[in-house]
Amino acid sequence: MTSESAEIESQQPACCAPEFIQLFSSTRRGARLARLLAVEQLASWGWPRDGERTDAAALVVAELAANAVVHGRLDGRGFRLGLALLPAGQLRIEVTDPRGERLLPAERREAVEGGRGLVIVDALAADWGVLPYPPSGKTVWAEISVRCPGGRQGVFPDRIEA
Ligand SMILES: Nc1ncnc2c1ncn2[C@@H]1O[C@H](COP(=O)(O)OP(=O)(O)OP(=O)(O)O)[C@@H](O)[C@H]1O
Ligand SMILES: [Mg+2]
Repeated sequence: MTSESAEIESQQPACCAPEFIQLFSSTRRGARLARLLAVEQLASWGWPRDGERTDAAALVVAELAANAVVHGRLDGRGFRLGLALLPAGQLRIEVTDPRGERLLPAERREAVEGGRGLVIVDALAADWGVLPYPPSGKTVWAEISVRCPGGRQGVFPDRIEA
């Protein structure tokens, strides 16, 4: 083994990152199912069902899925939910819809003035954004941090962990 290949090998993760990917119909029922299955998946990864971070993740999934169904819908096409645990423990949520040409408000400040959903995402996620999903879709992503949602105290003031 050359030193170069040893270095490449040492950069590989020890095992695959926990990941969940599922397609849903672009309906209210599909959005509701996405939220329910997300909580099931998090529970299988050891997240308490009534935990603060699980609540935050479920809300973010629900709002992004609702947006995919309402604003990103294309007849005959569904939306995709992806969940992944990042190496530092954050949860990455990705919701992909087929309407890549329908952009979200360019500025986050505009976004949080637009409606309720992205205000919630902005408050609970450590970061979020939009990426193209070639050839014609887009992915709205959000990351839930290891500790408090959005890194802020007081989102669920009765359940902030010590
Ligand atoms: N997946 C998406 N595709 C296209 N546009 C989107 C998408 N998500 C959000 N938007 C745009 O961003 C705006 C703000 O979204 P937000 O979720 O905050 O509000 P809303 O969906 O209009 O209302 P609410 O979430 O309160 O029901 C939307 O009105 C829409 O124009
Ligand atoms: Mg919305």
